Amino acid sequence: MSKPHWRPAHASDLPAIGAIAARIHPDLPESPEVFAEKMRLYPGGCRVLVAGDEIAGYGLSHPWKQHRIPPLDALLARLPDDADCLYVHDVAVLPDFRGGVLRTYVAAIEELARASQIATLALVSVYATRPLWERLGFRTVTMDAELRAKLESYGEGATYMLRDLAAT
Ligand SMILES: CC(C)(COP(=O)(O)OP(=O)(O)OC[C@H]1O[C@@H](n2cnc3c(N)ncnc32)[C@H](O)[C@@H]1OP(=O)(O)O)[C@@H](O)C(=O)NCCC(=O)NCCS
Repeated sequence: MSKPHWRPAHASDLPAIGAIAARIHPDLPESPEVFAEKMRLYPGGCRVLVAGDEIAGYGLSHPWKQHRIPPLDALLARLPDDADCLYVHDVAVLPDFRGGVLRTYVAAIEELARASQIATLALVSVYATRPLWERLGFRTVTMDAELRAKLESYGEGATYMLRDLAAT
């Protein structure tokens, strides 16, 4: 089988994306419309990992404002006109296909940000993924009470992280 590779996500990938999300994030469920809206609003940030005939993962990102956290399983309605970060909403890959693919997705998102004059990547790290994101150049942001409250829907241990592209 050829090496897994990322390609732009299409509406027809939604069932596969939903199935992977349900398997990888059973405790953080999101409706298909939430995925579909991100693909409509910012197709460039939405990719799927193709392995042979199979979709083995997805990555969803969109322009946003730093220190603002979109609640999980909610529509964005629109993207901000004055976006100052590309927000990585989620990257999930089936276990058999992991190893180097997140780094490739983030490199593509970084290129997209630079091309759009956006100098920062942002995300909420869930589970115990903080060291992994640090490895990719993200740093933890000191969270005030307001930011912590917004992180509630992301579960225990969720951390807001930024990566300054100018510094790398
Ligand atoms: C997160 C996920 C997409 C990573 O995929 P992956 O292909 O294994 O990631 P990569 O191999 O590209 O990892 C990027 C870097 O982090 C490192 N890394 C991986 N796991 C790590 C860990 N537990 N601690 C520290 N570093 C880690 C990798 O070694 C790699 O660094 P390197 O290129 O210098 O070797 C995959 O594990 C996944 O789907 N997890 C479940 C969903 C999830 O947690 N998503 C993130 C939500 S915030």
